[in-house]
Amino acid sequence: MRPAKSAEWQDLGPAKDFKQNPVTEVRLGKTTVAITCRKGKFGAISGVCNHVGGPLGQGHLDGDYVVCPWHHYKFHWRTGEGEPGFEADRVPSYEVRVKGGRLLLRTKPVTTRNKLPHPPHPLARALRREEGPVRVVGISATVMDRQFPRVSTSELLLQAALDHAKKELGCATRLLKLDSLKFRNCEGYYSKSAHACTWPCSITQMDPKDQMDQVYEALVHWADVVLVATPIRWGAASSLYYKMVERLNCVQNQITIRDNALIRNKVAAFLIIGGQDNIQGVAGQLLGFFSELGFHFPQFPYIAHSRGWSAEDMENNVVFVEHSQELRTGARDLTRRAVELAQALIAQGKGSAKVCRPGRKAFRMAHESAS
Ligand code: FES
Repeated sequence: MRPAKSAEWQDLGPAKDFKQNPVTEVRLGKTTVAITCRKGKFGAISGVCNHVGGPLGQGHLDGDYVVCPWHHYKFHWRTGEGEPGFEADRVPSYEVRVKGGRLLLRTKPVTTRNKLPHPPHPLARALRREEGPVRVVGISATVMDRQFPRVSTSELLLQAALDHAKKELGCATRLLKLDSLKFRNCEGYYSKSAHACTWPCSITQMDPKDQMDQVYEALVHWADVVLVATPIRWGAASSLYYKMVERLNCVQNQITIRDNALIRNKVAAFLIIGGQDNIQGVAGQLLGFFSELGFHFPQFPYIAHSRGWSAEDMENNVVFVEHSQELRTGARDLTRRAVELAQALIAQGKGSAKVCRPGRKAFRMAHESAS
């Protein structure tokens, strides 16, 4: 809503218009204000959230508090103070009055902004590779009831790869089974605003029970090599793989909007095992996504096996993979290639956070071009 201009008091328009919605966003030059209306009374606070600048004027009222639409921080509808216990974390508040049926706002705030320091999330620490052997994390994207386990052919080969990395190559290893982690789906913060999708992930910062932090910790901070093992389901990687990938939006988004490459000098490789086919389609998806995160790939970056389009005998596939020395050798060789590349990258030195317009965003962003 655009206000009429005056000096210290600004005429925002007919007061009745501001009674239509509990929260209305108003722009006054470079200042954005959230006009609130509760039980017929008006209030005004800054329209810019203390967290990462979310649009409070586009939020909603929850009792006495305006709820930020980005990550749901709350500020008192009149005083701008944070929720009980966080009162000192406040946004500016403004004086409003109704005169002649018009809503007037005094442009000088009554109270000023105060941001309480919040301890940074552990994942937000600076990137620094700790000394030590090459570190290999295996990510298993298979899905099963772990109380009643079955043989997963992709996980079986992943374990063979990790065993080889540890026993023969002297690496430190870690295995993450996605179906043993409790983590939420990506809830589309990026769709609210690119800047609402934060690093660390907004969900991770808000929900201490969410276990996707283990994947972030491994991929961004710990591992030099990431081995992803997935079954083929309906010609694609598993649903859990995609659930993880969507939560990695926040890592890729840092590259896109901040030129901040969180993945540096790291290698990814894949094990793709399925009953029927579309191996190359699955591999293309995996390679495309992990390349956008900034991973390097060894020569021949995946091994794969499928029983073939006309096969419906999965019990035979399990037996075949369990007894296949070729597939084990393939998994070991893939691991060796990935570890050797990681060693070369580590020896070569530090990666730069500044990547010159990576990947598909080779051109300048629209907001940069406009400035
Ligand atoms: S809660 Fe407002 S920007 Fe995050």
